[in-house]
Amino acid sequence: MTAPLLHTRCPELVRTLPFHRLGDGPTPVRRLTGTARDDLWCKDESRYGSGGWGGNKVRKLEWLLPELRRRGTRTVLTVGATGTNWGLAATLYARELGIDTVLALIDQPEDEHVREQLHRLRASGAAIHRTRTKPRTIAALPWLFLRHAHGLRPPAYLPPGGSAPIGVLGYVEAGLELAAQVAAGDLPEPRHIVTPVGSGGTAAGLALGCALAGLRSRVLGVVVNDTLPLATKDLTRLADRTATLLRRRGASFDLPPLRLVSTRTHLGDGYGHPTPEASAAAEAAASAGLRLEPVYSAKAFAAALTAAVDGPALFLNTYGPRG
Ligand SMILES: Cc1ncc(COP(=O)(O)O)c(C=O)c1O
Repeated sequence: MTAPLLHTRCPELVRTLPFHRLGDGPTPVRRLTGTARDDLWCKDESRYGSGGWGGNKVRKLEWLLPELRRRGTRTVLTVGATGTNWGLAATLYARELGIDTVLALIDQPEDEHVREQLHRLRASGAAIHRTRTKPRTIAALPWLFLRHAHGLRPPAYLPPGGSAPIGVLGYVEAGLELAAQVAAGDLPEPRHIVTPVGSGGTAAGLALGCALAGLRSRVLGVVVNDTLPLATKDLTRLADRTATLLRRRGASFDLPPLRLVSTRTHLGDGYGHPTPEASAAAEAAASAGLRLEPVYSAKAFAAALTAAVDGPALFLNTYGPRG
């Protein structure tokens, strides 16, 4: 198994932060042709992951799952919307390590994309509870912990999107990987890196990874979730908590200021509500060979097409369907 760059960069972490590789890096970078701008690049996370699902959740699980295994966890409980990519990836990859998954699902606007995902979730082996709204989900949690306990041991809780600091390490790793690709001349140093923001771990981790590696790129997080409308300061706090985790586990490093900003310009009417700009962006992406979905990646791509044109921009393709 190839060692993660984070272990190479901070050898102190080898003994304190277990890692379990689930995908092959580096993920490809390429210049996108046929879009409205000619300096738009893509780092394609869609194929990352060896199992039945890919995309940005897999890198988070590479750090979350071995930590859970170390603690002897048999069942995890997590929360997502009915089209959750996170819930699906968590279920499929946790099962590979012998861990069961319980999902509490909150309703989102239902379209073909969501119905297909719900179908995949039902087939995944997760124990599914349709708790429908955020307040009902919070109220149901104590019962769900009891219902799925093994003896006296309740399931371990994973936050939505896997955006606990340990999960965020997945995108610190991606930031280090990107810096190595820039150093190798595979792409120019991006001025902006554009990524969707649901639970925030991807944007926060990337900004921290880029800072650790000395890249000057600014991460532009495109907020798509109005129930967790993460502002720049929230993303920065998550990145800071992740840096603290690394230091607590023995790493030492100097950190330049993070270059990270969030925008709500592409949220439209809220989570899962389509926007005309995102629909047009998904079509433009398709002609550049990218398959996007309407909830996250199409809204971020719309932002990438219009982000400031003072240098190359990099779009992070976070959506990982299989088949
Ligand atoms: C396809 C896709 N892109 C982006 C995101 C957002 O990533 P994060 O939760 O790390 O902000 C998610 C999940 O929430 C997702 O499923």
